[in-house]
Amino acid sequence: MIELGELISSVGGWSNIYVVKDAPNKCVKVLAPHRKYQGEKPDPNLVAKKKYGIDNMLEFEYANYQKIMKCVPDNLKKNFVHIDGMQMTSIGVRGLVMERVMTAEGTTAPSLDHYKGEPLPDAFFCKLEQIRREVFHKHSLDHFGVALRNVLVRDNRTPVLIDFQKNRRIYRSQINLYIPYFTRQKVRRNFQRLYEEAHVQDWTTVKDLHCD
Ligand SMILES: Nc1ncnc2c1ncn2[C@@H]1O[C@H](COP(=O)(O)OP(=O)(O)O)[C@@H](O)[C@H]1O
Ligand SMILES: [Mg+2]
Repeated sequence: MIELGELISSVGGWSNIYVVKDAPNKCVKVLAPHRKYQGEKPDPNLVAKKKYGIDNMLEFEYANYQKIMKCVPDNLKKNFVHIDGMQMTSIGVRGLVMERVMTAEGTTAPSLDHYKGEPLPDAFFCKLEQIRREVFHKHSLDHFGVALRNVLVRDNRTPVLIDFQKNRRIYRSQINLYIPYFTRQKVRRNFQRLYEEAHVQDWTTVKDLHCD
């Protein structure tokens, strides 16, 4: 049983992230029900959750994470948050327990959209691009959440990817995302948008990467 500690974040709207009490190097993601979908068209997963208590979205995230990790070479493992798995929490719902990504100073690592430190060197974005090429592109996988807020800055050469959740429905028109070619195109566009929002060059077009 996981006891919830300090709230790290409730930005997503779908979920809250808490430090694990008694294990401050870990955190746990629990769905935040009764929030965003009230009054809107309810997401089927949340209906399932409400009616049957199935944590579909977190289960889905964990499954997608495991699928991705099978394709991550050892030298890039530290660029993905380590997720332990689903565990029961003291508030009566199961949560996704994971490593709490920390800076060298022992604070929770900021996401790229909240990062306030020195401008990040090329090495940081080069590493992100290496991840795109050697994991997502190579295996035609989708992360489902490539965005500034889902990249943590462990240090100035170490991006750490989090949030493997698919929280939007796949619409009929997006059906071709099951075709590897289109998955690669989509993920490439997501990374391009990330580089643009971070005000760095379009790393997807750099011919030879020399990150390390
Ligand atoms: N393992 C972690 N270590 C440190 N901070 C985290 C971790 N997981 C999430 N966070 C923080 O919580 C925020 C929301 O978590 P995320 O998994 O992206 O949830 P959501 O699906 O609601 O976007 C992130 O943007 C990040 O700032
Ligand atoms: Mg997120």
